[in-house]
Amino acid sequence: MPLRRLALPLFLALAIAGCLPISAPPPQGLQPPTPALAAAAGPGSSGLNDPLFPLLGNGGYDVQHYALDLDVHVPSNTITATATIVATATQNLSAFNLDFSGLTVTEITVNDLAAVHTRSDPEMTVVPALPLMEGSLFTTTVSYHGTPRPLRDPAIGFAALGWNHAGNLIYVVSEPSGAMTWYPNNNHPSDKATYTMRVTVDKPYTVAANGELVKIEEQDGRRATYTWTMDAPMASYLATLVIGDLVRVDNERSGQVRIRNYFPTEDANRLAIQFSVTAEMIDYYSAILGDYPFETYGVAVLPFHLGYALETQTLSIFGNDGGMEGVIAHELMHQWLGNHVTPATWQDIWLNEGFATYFQRLWLDHKLGRGFLDTGMVSYYKLLKAGHAGPPGAVGAHDMFSSTVYERGAWTLHALRLQVGDEAFFRIIREYYRRHAGGNVSTAGFIAVANEVSGQDLTEFLNNWIYGPELPPIPEETITDTEGN
Ligand code: TRP
Ligand code: ZN
Repeated sequence: MPLRRLALPLFLALAIAGCLPISAPPPQGLQPPTPALAAAAGPGSSGLNDPLFPLLGNGGYDVQHYALDLDVHVPSNTITATATIVATATQNLSAFNLDFSGLTVTEITVNDLAAVHTRSDPEMTVVPALPLMEGSLFTTTVSYHGTPRPLRDPAIGFAALGWNHAGNLIYVVSEPSGAMTWYPNNNHPSDKATYTMRVTVDKPYTVAANGELVKIEEQDGRRATYTWTMDAPMASYLATLVIGDLVRVDNERSGQVRIRNYFPTEDANRLAIQFSVTAEMIDYYSAILGDYPFETYGVAVLPFHLGYALETQTLSIFGNDGGMEGVIAHELMHQWLGNHVTPATWQDIWLNEGFATYFQRLWLDHKLGRGFLDTGMVSYYKLLKAGHAGPPGAVGAHDMFSSTVYERGAWTLHALRLQVGDEAFFRIIREYYRRHAGGNVSTAGFIAVANEVSGQDLTEFLNNWIYGPELPPIPEETITDTEGN
Protein backbone atom coordinates (compact mmCIF):
# COMPACT_ATOMS: atom_id res chain seq x y z
CA MET A 1 0.00 0.00 0.00
CA PRO A 2 1.40 3.42 -0.86
CA LEU A 3 2.38 5.10 2.36
CA ARG A 4 1.18 8.55 1.56
CA ARG A 5 -2.37 7.20 1.69
CA LEU A 6 -2.00 6.57 5.39
CA ALA A 7 -4.16 8.98 7.32
CA LEU A 8 -1.65 10.28 9.82
CA PRO A 9 -2.60 13.27 11.92
CA LEU A 10 -0.83 16.25 10.37
CA PHE A 11 1.31 17.09 13.38
CA LEU A 12 2.50 13.52 13.53
CA ALA A 13 3.28 13.30 9.83
CA LEU A 14 5.29 16.49 10.10
CA ALA A 15 7.09 15.32 13.18
CA ILE A 16 8.02 12.04 11.54
CA ALA A 17 9.13 14.03 8.54
CA GLY A 18 11.40 15.95 10.91
CA CYS A 19 9.66 19.26 10.23
CA LEU A 20 8.29 19.76 13.71
CA PRO A 21 9.63 19.22 17.14
CA ILE A 22 7.05 16.80 18.41
CA SER A 23 5.60 18.60 21.43
CA ALA A 24 1.93 19.55 21.46
CA PRO A 25 -0.44 17.89 21.08
CA PRO A 26 1.17 15.03 23.00
CA PRO A 27 1.35 11.74 21.12
CA GLN A 28 -0.76 9.85 23.64
CA GLY A 29 -2.28 6.62 22.58
CA LEU A 30 -0.26 6.61 19.41
CA GLN A 31 2.20 3.80 19.79
CA PRO A 32 2.54 2.83 17.00
CA PRO A 33 0.97 5.68 15.00
CA THR A 34 -1.05 3.39 12.81
CA PRO A 35 -0.98 -0.36 12.63
CA ALA A 36 -0.35 -0.13 8.88
CA LEU A 37 2.90 1.84 9.15
CA ALA A 38 4.14 -0.30 11.97
CA ALA A 39 3.51 -3.41 9.91
CA ALA A 40 5.29 -1.95 6.90
CA ALA A 41 8.36 -0.87 8.90
CA GLY A 42 11.32 -3.17 9.55
CA PRO A 43 14.74 -2.73 11.08
CA GLY A 44 17.60 -1.26 9.04
CA SER A 45 20.48 -3.67 8.41
CA SER A 46 23.48 -3.71 10.74
CA GLY A 47 26.00 -3.46 7.92
CA LEU A 48 26.40 -2.38 4.30
CA ASN A 49 28.10 -5.56 3.11
CA ASP A 50 31.36 -3.81 2.37
CA PRO A 51 33.61 -6.47 0.80
CA LEU A 52 36.31 -5.85 3.44
CA PHE A 53 34.23 -4.74 6.43
CA PRO A 54 30.70 -6.16 6.07
CA LEU A 55 29.47 -4.69 9.37
CA LEU A 56 30.75 -1.13 8.93
CA GLY A 57 27.94 1.26 8.19
CA ASN A 58 24.24 0.52 8.56
CA GLY A 59 21.27 0.22 6.25
CA GLY A 60 17.96 2.06 6.12
CA TYR A 61 19.06 5.68 6.42
CA ASP A 62 21.37 8.28 4.97
CA VAL A 63 22.95 10.81 7.32
CA GLN A 64 22.81 14.47 6.28
CA HIS A 65 24.47 16.16 9.22
CA TYR A 66 26.27 15.41 12.47
CA ALA A 67 26.32 18.04 15.21
CA LEU A 68 28.84 16.91 17.83
CA ASP A 69 28.94 18.69 21.13
CA LEU A 70 31.88 17.54 23.24
CA ASP A 71 33.12 18.64 26.61
CA VAL A 72 36.67 17.35 26.91
CA HIS A 73 38.88 17.12 29.96
CA VAL A 74 42.30 16.61 28.43
CA PRO A 75 44.52 15.44 31.34
CA SER A 76 42.07 12.70 32.37
CA ASN A 77 40.94 12.02 28.79
CA THR A 78 37.26 12.05 29.66
CA ILE A 79 34.41 13.43 27.60
CA THR A 80 30.77 14.29 28.07
CA ALA A 81 29.05 14.57 24.73
CA THR A 82 25.88 14.78 22.69
CA ALA A 83 25.75 13.74 19.06
CA THR A 84 22.79 15.05 17.05
CA ILE A 85 22.35 13.13 13.83
CA VAL A 86 19.99 14.30 11.10
CA ALA A 87 19.27 11.55 8.61
CA THR A 88 16.83 10.56 5.89
CA ALA A 89 15.09 7.21 6.22
CA THR A 90 15.62 5.18 3.04
CA GLN A 91 13.00 2.62 4.07
CA ASN A 92 10.24 2.45 6.66
CA LEU A 93 12.16 1.87 9.87
CA SER A 94 11.07 0.24 13.08
CA ALA A 95 14.70 0.33 14.30
CA PHE A 96 18.13 1.26 12.99
CA ASN A 97 21.75 0.80 13.96
CA LEU A 98 24.58 3.19 14.68
CA ASP A 99 28.23 2.13 14.87
CA PHE A 100 29.61 3.06 18.27
CA SER A 101 32.41 1.50 20.28
CA GLY A 102 32.96 1.90 24.03
CA LEU A 103 31.72 4.88 26.08
CA THR A 104 28.54 4.97 28.17
CA VAL A 105 25.26 6.02 26.60
CA THR A 106 22.86 7.78 28.97
CA GLU A 107 20.00 8.81 26.70
CA ILE A 108 18.83 8.56 23.11
CA THR A 109 15.97 10.45 21.52
CA VAL A 110 14.50 10.21 18.05
CA ASN A 111 12.45 13.21 16.95
CA ASP A 112 12.50 14.37 20.58
CA LEU A 113 10.93 11.19 21.97
CA ALA A 114 12.92 8.88 24.21
CA ALA A 115 14.14 5.83 22.28
CA VAL A 116 15.19 2.40 23.50
CA HIS A 117 18.66 1.17 22.63
CA THR A 118 20.68 -2.01 22.94
CA ARG A 119 24.39 -2.45 22.35
CA SER A 120 26.53 -5.23 21.01
CA ASP A 121 29.76 -3.33 20.53
CA PRO A 122 30.37 -1.81 17.99
CA GLU A 123 26.74 -2.09 16.91
CA MET A 124 24.10 -0.03 18.70
CA THR A 125 20.44 -0.61 17.86
CA VAL A 126 18.00 2.26 18.34
CA VAL A 127 14.26 1.61 18.53
CA PRO A 128 12.39 4.89 18.13
CA ALA A 129 9.09 5.39 19.94
CA LEU A 130 7.40 5.81 16.57
CA PRO A 131 8.39 4.12 13.33
CA LEU A 132 10.05 6.31 10.70
CA MET A 133 8.64 6.69 7.24
CA GLU A 134 10.71 6.16 4.13
CA GLY A 135 11.85 9.51 2.78
CA SER A 136 11.40 11.37 6.06
CA LEU A 137 14.11 13.33 7.80
CA PHE A 138 14.58 12.36 11.42
CA THR A 139 16.77 13.62 14.23
CA THR A 140 18.53 11.35 16.70
CA THR A 141 20.38 12.59 19.76
CA VAL A 142 22.79 10.38 21.66
CA SER A 143 24.11 11.56 25.04
CA TYR A 144 27.23 9.76 26.23
CA HIS A 145 30.32 10.05 28.34
CA GLY A 146 33.49 8.26 29.40
CA THR A 147 37.02 7.73 28.14
CA PRO A 148 37.22 7.00 24.42
CA ARG A 149 39.53 4.11 23.56
CA PRO A 150 41.23 3.73 20.19
CA LEU A 151 40.75 0.43 18.42
CA ARG A 152 42.98 -2.01 16.56
CA ASP A 153 42.08 -2.76 13.00
CA PRO A 154 43.52 -5.50 10.76
CA ALA A 155 44.12 -2.83 8.14
CA ILE A 156 46.65 -0.89 10.16
CA GLY A 157 49.43 -2.40 12.21
CA PHE A 158 51.15 0.88 12.99
CA ALA A 159 48.37 2.99 14.48
CA ALA A 160 45.64 2.77 17.08
CA LEU A 161 42.58 4.07 15.27
CA GLY A 162 40.18 6.76 16.34
CA TRP A 163 40.54 8.83 19.48
CA ASN A 164 44.11 8.84 20.79
CA HIS A 165 45.36 10.41 23.99
CA ALA A 166 49.00 11.21 24.64
CA GLY A 167 49.58 13.26 27.78
CA ASN A 168 48.46 16.79 26.97
CA LEU A 169 47.34 15.93 23.50
CA ILE A 170 44.27 14.36 21.95
CA TYR A 171 44.11 13.52 18.26
CA VAL A 172 41.84 11.48 16.01
CA VAL A 173 43.14 9.31 13.15
CA SER A 174 40.43 6.89 12.02
CA GLU A 175 40.98 5.40 8.59
CA PRO A 176 39.32 3.02 8.03
CA SER A 177 37.16 2.15 11.07
CA GLY A 178 38.11 4.40 14.02
CA ALA A 179 35.38 7.07 13.81
CA MET A 180 33.07 4.97 15.99
CA THR A 181 35.46 5.36 18.96
CA TRP A 182 34.32 8.93 19.63
CA TYR A 183 30.86 9.48 18.14
CA PRO A 184 28.01 7.23 17.01
CA ASN A 185 27.72 7.20 13.23
CA ASN A 186 27.06 5.44 9.99
CA ASN A 187 30.66 4.35 9.71
CA HIS A 188 31.12 3.79 6.01
CA PRO A 189 32.66 6.05 3.33
CA SER A 190 29.51 5.78 1.20
CA ASP A 191 27.48 7.85 3.69
CA LYS A 192 29.05 11.31 3.64
CA ALA A 193 27.57 14.16 5.66
CA THR A 194 28.27 17.70 6.82
CA TYR A 195 29.43 18.42 10.37
CA THR A 196 29.34 20.93 13.17
CA MET A 197 31.67 20.31 16.10
CA ARG A 198 31.41 22.28 19.32
CA VAL A 199 34.26 21.37 21.61
CA THR A 200 34.75 22.77 25.10
CA VAL A 201 38.17 22.52 26.74
CA ASP A 202 40.08 24.09 29.59
CA LYS A 203 42.25 27.02 28.67
CA PRO A 204 44.89 27.21 27.29
CA TYR A 205 44.26 24.17 25.07
CA THR A 206 43.63 24.83 21.41
CA VAL A 207 41.07 22.83 19.41
CA ALA A 208 41.61 22.19 15.70
CA ALA A 209 39.08 20.31 13.57
CA ASN A 210 37.82 19.97 10.01
CA GLY A 211 36.61 22.98 8.07
CA GLU A 212 36.07 26.49 9.35
CA LEU A 213 36.60 27.81 12.84
CA VAL A 214 33.40 29.80 13.30
CA LYS A 215 33.88 31.09 16.84
CA ILE A 216 35.61 30.68 20.15
CA GLU A 217 33.38 31.40 23.14
CA GLU A 218 34.82 32.00 26.56
CA GLN A 219 33.01 30.02 29.22
CA ASP A 220 33.62 31.14 32.88
CA GLY A 221 37.12 32.52 32.20
CA ARG A 222 38.56 29.06 32.65
CA ARG A 223 37.11 27.23 29.66
CA ALA A 224 36.50 27.92 25.98
CA THR A 225 34.19 26.44 23.36
CA TYR A 226 35.44 26.11 19.77
CA THR A 227 32.87 25.77 17.00
CA TRP A 228 34.06 24.20 13.75
CA THR A 229 31.92 23.53 10.69
CA MET A 230 32.52 21.28 7.72
CA ASP A 231 30.00 22.36 5.09
CA ALA A 232 31.01 19.92 2.36
CA PRO A 233 30.14 16.23 2.62
CA MET A 234 32.72 14.26 4.57
CA ALA A 235 33.21 10.54 5.20
CA SER A 236 33.39 9.53 8.87
CA TYR A 237 36.99 8.28 8.56
CA LEU A 238 38.06 11.82 7.63
CA ALA A 239 36.57 13.56 10.66
CA THR A 240 39.24 14.71 13.08
CA LEU A 241 39.91 16.67 16.19
CA VAL A 242 43.29 17.73 17.56
CA ILE A 243 43.47 19.27 21.02
CA GLY A 244 46.72 20.41 22.55
CA ASP A 245 49.30 23.09 23.04
CA LEU A 246 49.16 24.24 19.43
CA VAL A 247 49.66 27.52 17.65
CA ARG A 248 47.84 28.47 14.53
CA VAL A 249 50.02 29.62 11.64
CA ASP A 250 48.33 30.97 8.53
CA ASN A 251 50.06 30.79 5.16
CA GLU A 252 49.48 33.03 2.21
CA ARG A 253 46.35 31.95 0.33
CA SER A 254 46.18 30.02 -2.84
CA GLY A 255 43.46 31.83 -4.79
CA GLN A 256 40.33 31.62 -2.66
CA VAL A 257 41.71 28.89 -0.42
CA ARG A 258 42.70 29.95 3.10
CA ILE A 259 45.59 28.00 4.59
CA ARG A 260 45.74 27.53 8.35
CA ASN A 261 48.06 25.13 10.12
CA TYR A 262 48.33 24.03 13.73
CA PHE A 263 51.85 23.39 14.99
CA PRO A 264 53.26 22.42 18.37
CA THR A 265 54.28 25.70 19.94
CA GLU A 266 57.92 24.78 20.43
CA ASP A 267 58.41 23.69 16.81
CA ALA A 268 56.27 26.23 15.00
CA ASN A 269 58.99 28.20 13.22
CA ARG A 270 60.69 25.21 11.64
CA LEU A 271 57.38 23.64 10.62
CA ALA A 272 56.02 26.89 9.18
CA ILE A 273 58.94 26.88 6.76
CA GLN A 274 58.54 23.19 5.85
CA PHE A 275 54.84 23.53 5.09
CA SER A 276 55.07 26.92 3.34
CA VAL A 277 55.13 25.02 0.02
CA THR A 278 51.40 24.25 0.40
CA ALA A 279 49.99 27.23 -1.53
CA GLU A 280 52.11 26.45 -4.56
CA MET A 281 51.02 22.82 -4.45
CA ILE A 282 47.34 23.78 -4.29
CA ASP A 283 47.87 25.92 -7.41
CA TYR A 284 49.57 23.00 -9.14
CA TYR A 285 46.91 20.38 -8.38
CA SER A 286 44.07 22.82 -9.07
CA ALA A 287 45.49 23.35 -12.55
CA ILE A 288 45.65 19.60 -13.24
CA LEU A 289 42.50 18.38 -11.52
CA GLY A 290 40.11 21.30 -11.18
CA ASP A 291 39.57 23.71 -8.29
CA TYR A 292 40.49 22.66 -4.77
CA PRO A 293 37.20 21.37 -3.32
CA PHE A 294 37.03 23.12 0.06
CA GLU A 295 37.35 26.64 1.45
CA THR A 296 40.30 25.87 3.68
CA TYR A 297 43.32 23.65 3.93
CA GLY A 298 46.16 23.15 6.36
CA VAL A 299 47.86 20.56 8.52
CA ALA A 300 47.95 19.70 12.19
CA VAL A 301 51.38 18.53 13.30
CA LEU A 302 51.65 16.45 16.46
CA PRO A 303 54.59 17.01 18.83
CA PHE A 304 56.15 13.56 18.26
CA HIS A 305 57.19 11.18 15.51
CA LEU A 306 54.29 9.41 13.89
CA GLY A 307 55.87 7.70 10.87
CA TYR A 308 52.70 8.27 8.84
CA ALA A 309 50.32 11.02 7.84
CA LEU A 310 46.59 11.07 7.24
CA GLU A 311 44.52 13.17 4.84
CA THR A 312 41.77 14.18 7.33
CA GLN A 313 39.48 16.57 5.46
CA THR A 314 40.92 20.11 5.16
CA LEU A 315 43.30 19.37 8.06
CA SER A 316 45.81 16.61 7.31
CA ILE A 317 47.63 15.14 10.29
CA PHE A 318 51.40 14.73 10.41
CA GLY A 319 53.97 13.82 13.03
CA ASN A 320 56.82 16.25 13.64
CA ASP A 321 58.92 13.98 11.42
CA GLY A 322 56.49 14.44 8.57
CA GLY A 323 57.64 17.43 6.56
CA MET A 324 58.87 15.49 3.52
CA GLU A 325 57.65 17.19 0.40
CA GLY A 326 56.33 14.02 -1.22
CA VAL A 327 54.16 13.28 1.81
CA ILE A 328 52.92 16.87 2.00
CA ALA A 329 51.87 16.58 -1.65
CA HIS A 330 50.31 13.14 -1.07
CA GLU A 331 47.99 14.22 1.76
CA LEU A 332 47.05 17.41 -0.06
CA MET A 333 46.21 15.53 -3.24
CA HIS A 334 43.88 13.23 -1.28
CA GLN A 335 41.62 16.25 -0.68
CA TRP A 336 40.54 15.97 -4.34
CA LEU A 337 40.70 12.18 -4.69
CA GLY A 338 39.84 10.29 -1.56
CA ASN A 339 38.05 13.09 0.26
CA HIS A 340 35.90 14.92 -2.27
CA VAL A 341 35.70 11.90 -4.57
CA THR A 342 35.48 8.98 -2.17
CA PRO A 343 35.66 5.23 -2.78
CA ALA A 344 32.29 3.47 -2.81
CA THR A 345 33.71 0.56 -0.78
CA TRP A 346 36.97 -0.12 1.05
CA GLN A 347 37.98 -2.49 -1.70
CA ASP A 348 38.25 0.53 -4.01
CA ILE A 349 41.00 1.93 -1.76
CA TRP A 350 43.53 1.94 -4.65
CA LEU A 351 41.47 4.85 -6.06
CA ASN A 352 42.75 6.80 -3.03
CA GLU A 353 46.25 5.57 -2.55
CA GLY A 354 47.26 4.81 -6.14
CA PHE A 355 46.24 8.32 -7.20
CA ALA A 356 47.84 10.11 -4.24
CA THR A 357 51.08 8.18 -4.75
CA TYR A 358 51.20 8.86 -8.49
CA PHE A 359 50.31 12.52 -8.09
CA GLN A 360 52.83 13.12 -5.32
CA ARG A 361 55.45 12.04 -7.89
CA LEU A 362 53.95 14.34 -10.51
CA TRP A 363 54.54 17.23 -8.11
CA LEU A 364 58.14 16.17 -7.49
CA ASP A 365 58.67 15.74 -11.22
CA HIS A 366 57.27 19.23 -11.80
CA LYS A 367 59.49 20.63 -9.06
CA LEU A 368 62.69 18.70 -9.67
CA GLY A 369 62.54 18.49 -13.40
CA ARG A 370 62.06 15.90 -16.06
CA GLY A 371 63.19 12.38 -15.53
CA PHE A 372 62.29 12.05 -11.88
CA LEU A 373 59.00 10.37 -12.60
CA ASP A 374 60.13 8.05 -15.40
CA THR A 375 63.22 6.86 -13.57
CA GLY A 376 61.31 6.42 -10.35
CA MET A 377 58.48 4.50 -11.98
CA VAL A 378 60.88 2.10 -13.67
CA SER A 379 62.56 1.25 -10.38
CA TYR A 380 59.20 0.77 -8.68
CA TYR A 381 58.17 -1.52 -11.52
CA LYS A 382 61.20 -3.72 -10.81
CA LEU A 383 60.36 -3.81 -7.12
CA LEU A 384 56.76 -4.77 -7.84
CA LYS A 385 57.91 -7.48 -10.23
CA ALA A 386 60.43 -8.88 -7.77
CA GLY A 387 57.88 -8.76 -4.95
CA HIS A 388 55.12 -10.46 -7.00
CA ALA A 389 52.77 -7.61 -6.11
CA GLY A 390 49.18 -8.80 -6.32
CA PRO A 391 46.24 -6.91 -7.80
CA PRO A 392 45.48 -3.60 -6.05
CA GLY A 393 41.73 -3.92 -6.67
CA ALA A 394 41.37 -7.28 -4.94
CA VAL A 395 42.95 -6.67 -1.54
CA GLY A 396 41.65 -7.77 1.84
CA ALA A 397 41.44 -5.77 5.07
CA HIS A 398 44.96 -6.76 6.12
CA ASP A 399 46.67 -5.48 2.94
CA MET A 400 44.50 -2.52 1.99
CA PHE A 401 47.39 -0.15 2.83
CA SER A 402 50.13 -2.33 1.32
CA SER A 403 52.59 -1.41 -1.43
CA THR A 404 50.39 -3.34 -3.86
CA VAL A 405 47.72 -0.69 -3.38
CA TYR A 406 50.07 2.31 -3.36
CA GLU A 407 52.63 1.27 -5.96
CA ARG A 408 50.78 -1.03 -8.34
CA GLY A 409 47.90 1.43 -7.97
CA ALA A 410 50.22 4.26 -9.03
CA TRP A 411 51.57 2.11 -11.85
CA THR A 412 48.05 1.45 -13.09
CA LEU A 413 47.71 5.19 -13.68
CA HIS A 414 51.16 5.50 -15.23
CA ALA A 415 50.35 2.59 -17.54
CA LEU A 416 47.08 4.23 -18.53
CA ARG A 417 48.99 7.42 -19.30
CA LEU A 418 51.51 5.56 -21.45
CA GLN A 419 48.65 3.78 -23.21
CA VAL A 420 46.46 6.78 -24.09
CA GLY A 421 49.00 9.62 -24.07
CA ASP A 422 49.30 12.66 -21.80
CA GLU A 423 46.50 14.69 -23.28
CA ALA A 424 43.82 12.00 -22.99
CA PHE A 425 45.14 10.88 -19.60
CA PHE A 426 44.72 14.28 -17.99
CA ARG A 427 41.32 14.72 -19.61
CA ILE A 428 40.26 11.41 -18.06
CA ILE A 429 41.47 12.47 -14.61
CA ARG A 430 39.73 15.85 -14.79
CA GLU A 431 36.46 14.32 -15.93
CA TYR A 432 36.64 11.61 -13.29
CA TYR A 433 37.07 14.27 -10.61
CA ARG A 434 34.41 16.57 -12.03
CA ARG A 435 31.81 13.87 -12.44
CA HIS A 436 32.11 12.38 -8.96
CA ALA A 437 32.91 15.55 -6.97
CA GLY A 438 31.23 15.46 -3.56
CA GLY A 439 30.24 11.82 -3.95
CA ASN A 440 31.47 8.25 -4.17
CA VAL A 441 32.83 6.19 -7.01
CA SER A 442 33.71 2.56 -7.63
CA THR A 443 36.56 1.14 -9.69
CA ALA A 444 34.03 0.39 -12.45
CA GLY A 445 33.07 4.08 -12.38
CA PHE A 446 36.69 5.02 -13.01
CA ILE A 447 37.01 2.57 -15.91
CA ALA A 448 33.78 3.92 -17.42
CA VAL A 449 35.18 7.48 -17.45
CA ALA A 450 38.47 6.27 -18.96
CA ASN A 451 36.63 4.49 -21.77
CA GLU A 452 34.28 7.33 -22.47
CA VAL A 453 36.82 10.15 -22.45
CA SER A 454 39.50 8.28 -24.40
CA GLY A 455 37.02 6.88 -26.92
CA GLN A 456 38.77 3.51 -26.52
CA ASP A 457 37.72 0.33 -24.79
CA LEU A 458 40.28 0.18 -21.99
CA THR A 459 38.30 -2.26 -19.86
CA GLU A 460 40.52 -5.27 -20.40
CA PHE A 461 43.70 -3.22 -20.19
CA LEU A 462 42.69 -1.65 -16.86
CA ASN A 463 41.21 -4.87 -15.48
CA ASN A 464 44.59 -6.55 -15.99
CA TRP A 465 46.32 -3.83 -14.02
CA ILE A 466 43.72 -3.64 -11.28
CA TYR A 467 42.57 -7.24 -10.92
CA GLY A 468 45.07 -9.42 -12.80
CA PRO A 469 47.15 -11.79 -10.68
CA GLU A 470 50.30 -11.01 -12.71
CA LEU A 471 51.88 -7.58 -13.09
CA PRO A 472 51.15 -6.60 -16.72
CA PRO A 473 53.99 -5.54 -19.03
CA ILE A 474 54.84 -1.85 -19.37
CA PRO A 475 52.82 -0.52 -22.33
CA GLU A 476 54.67 0.76 -25.36
CA GLU A 477 54.38 4.51 -25.29
CA THR A 478 51.84 5.63 -27.88
CA ILE A 479 52.45 9.35 -27.43
CA THR A 480 54.14 11.15 -30.26
CA ASP A 481 57.10 12.88 -28.70
CA THR A 482 57.47 16.65 -28.61
CA GLU A 483 59.69 16.66 -31.72
CA GLY A 484 56.69 15.31 -33.58
CA ASN A 485 58.13 11.93 -34.53
N1 TRP B 1 45.64 7.28 4.15
C1 TRP B 1 46.96 7.37 4.74
C2 TRP B 1 47.88 7.81 3.60
O1 TRP B 1 47.85 8.91 3.22
C3 TRP B 1 47.41 6.07 5.38
C4 TRP B 1 46.60 5.66 6.57
C5 TRP B 1 45.54 4.82 6.56
C6 TRP B 1 46.72 6.11 7.90
N2 TRP B 1 45.04 4.69 7.82
C7 TRP B 1 45.74 5.46 8.65
C8 TRP B 1 47.58 6.98 8.55
C9 TRP B 1 45.56 5.70 10.00
C10 TRP B 1 47.40 7.20 9.90
C11 TRP B 1 46.42 6.56 10.62
O2 TRP B 1 48.55 7.07 2.97
ZN1 ZN C 1 47.44 8.15 1.05
